[in-house]
Amino acid sequence: MKIFSGTSNKPLAQKVAKKLGTDLSPLEIHIFPDKEKRVRVLEKVVDENCIVIQPTSPDPDSNYMELFFVVDALRRSGAKTIKAVIPYLGYQRQDHVFRDGEAVSLAVIATLLKWGGVDEVISFDLHSIKIPEIFKIKLTHLSALSLFAAEIRKMGKSTMLVSPDMGGIRRIKLLSEILNNMPYAVIEKNRDLVSGKVTMTGISGEVKENAIIVDDMISTGGTIVTAANLLKNKGAKNIYVFATHAVFSKDAPRILSSPLIKKVYVTDTIDIPKEKRFQKLEVLSVAEMVATSLSS
Ligand code: R5P
Repeated sequence: MKIFSGTSNKPLAQKVAKKLGTDLSPLEIHIFPDKEKRVRVLEKVVDENCIVIQPTSPDPDSNYMELFFVVDALRRSGAKTIKAVIPYLGYQRQDHVFRDGEAVSLAVIATLLKWGGVDEVISFDLHSIKIPEIFKIKLTHLSALSLFAAEIRKMGKSTMLVSPDMGGIRRIKLLSEILNNMPYAVIEKNRDLVSGKVTMTGISGEVKENAIIVDDMISTGGTIVTAANLLKNKGAKNIYVFATHAVFSKDAPRILSSPLIKKVYVTDTIDIPKEKRFQKLEVLSVAEMVATSLSS
C-alpha cells in the first residue's frame, strides 16, 4: 500500500502513515503564479494499492482539483486501485435541489471522482445519510462519535445531548445509544437561504445543567452560538460543543470563544492553522480510525 497526501492536511496524512508503520510516498505539487497546479508522482506505483488523503477545506475548488490530478497521475502511472480519503467531503451541503434552478454540486463531485478513477472514498460524519446513494463507487462512512463519547463519559451527571437542528437527530440518537441512552433534545432551527441568518424557535426535552451540543460541522459558528444562547436561557450552566469538521470560516474562532461556551471539541478531519486555534479548543485525532479502515 502506498499513501500519498495532497497539501490540505499533511499532519493528518503523516499520522495515518505512521500508524500504518510507513511513510508518505513522495509527490511533487508545483503551483504556477496563476495558481494552476502541476502534480507528479515520484514513486513507482505499478500494480500498487494507492491511497490519497485530501480533505477539501479550506479551499474546496483548489483541493478537489489537486485530488483529481493526483488520482489521474496515479492511474496513468499504473496504480492497481485508488482510494481517496476525503475526511471532510466538500459540497455536501448541496446534496439535492433545495430551490428550483439549483445545481446538485455533490453529484458533480461524485461523478468526477468515479470518472477520474477513484475506486473508493472514505469520509467522516457526512451531512446526510442519503449522501452515499449519490456515489456510484463505494463510500465508506466513518464517524467521530466514538471519540466524542469517550470525552463525554468523563463529564459528570446531569448531562444531556443537544442537536442544534432536526437534521442532526439521527446523529444525536446514535450518540445517546453509545452513552447508555443519555437524554437528548433537538432544537428547531431555521436558516434563511439568502442571508444565511440562523433563528431558533424552541427545543424539545428538558434542559439539564451540562448541555452538550453535537453537530457535524462548524462553519461560521452561528448555529452553535445561537443554540448556546437558547440553552443558557433554558437553564443550562455548562455548555460544551462537539463537532467533527472544523470548517471555521469567517471569525468562527472569535465567536466560539464566547463565555457562553466552556469547551469546543473538534477533530482533525480539517487541518486547523495556528491562527484559527483558540484557548477552549481541543482537537481529537481521527488518524487511528482512518488507519484501521485502510488496513481492514
Ligand atoms: C447544518 O445543517 C450543519 O449541520 C451545521 O449546523 C452548519 O453547517 C453550521 O454552520 P454555521 O457554523 O455557519 O452555523
